[in-house]
Amino acid sequence: MAGLFITFEGGEGSGKSTQIAALKARLQAAKRSVTQTREPGGTALGEAIRELLQHDDAGQGMSAEAELLLFAASRAQHVRELIEPALATDQIVICDRFLDSTTVYQGVARAIDPHSVATINEFAVGPMLPNLTLLIDLPPEIGLARAHKRSGGQLDRMEQESIKFFHAVRQGYLSLAAAHPERFHVLDGNQSIQSLEEQIWAIVAPHL
Ligand SMILES: Nc1ncnc2c1ncn2[C@@H]1O[C@H](COP(=O)(O)OP(=O)(O)O)[C@@H](O)[C@H]1O
Ligand SMILES: [Mg+2]
Repeated sequence: MAGLFITFEGGEGSGKSTQIAALKARLQAAKRSVTQTREPGGTALGEAIRELLQHDDAGQGMSAEAELLLFAASRAQHVRELIEPALATDQIVICDRFLDSTTVYQGVARAIDPHSVATINEFAVGPMLPNLTLLIDLPPEIGLARAHKRSGGQLDRMEQESIKFFHAVRQGYLSLAAAHPERFHVLDGNQSIQSLEEQIWAIVAPHL
């Protein structure tokens, strides 16, 4: 056995949390130890940064550059404190968003110079890249409608962005997946929870 690092990516409401819970249950049924985590967050420092990024009044009006660096700070701590040690003990690490979210949200949708974003991402993670990245692709209108229904209309700072922003996110993800076919799998998010779960299991199982 060896560790396996799986990340989930996709827009708001695409079904990441739902599928992570399903995959975790299947892995545990297969007697594998699973560490489930998320970004921003995953450590005490990361969760404090998450609050700044999503809900704290101090985060209102933050610059795109400050936002990029806060995500990177959360990720740098996450890799060293939680992800690396878990993989070293043969855990399967499932992470809700990782560096690809930064490439797409900050590098594409916020239009920060992609070379700077890539450099900062590399500095934050070192050699720690996912073995598998599952991208759940969905038109943003559908995802946002789901997310609004889930939260009863309460939106975090990122969810308050325009529909144009989320279209840029979607296209950014699809281009990134096409550029890294060795680790990305693109899944159609507009299908039943059950059939998505089966597809994801068919992708993950051969890696166990
Ligand atoms: N395949 C699906 N079809 C319809 N609704 C879904 C599907 N997957 C998830 N949902 C619902 O959509 C909402 C958002 O799903 P969630 O897993 O929280 O998305 P994310 O974590 O990507 O934001 C939840 O209420 C969830 O029950
Ligand atoms: Mg979620």
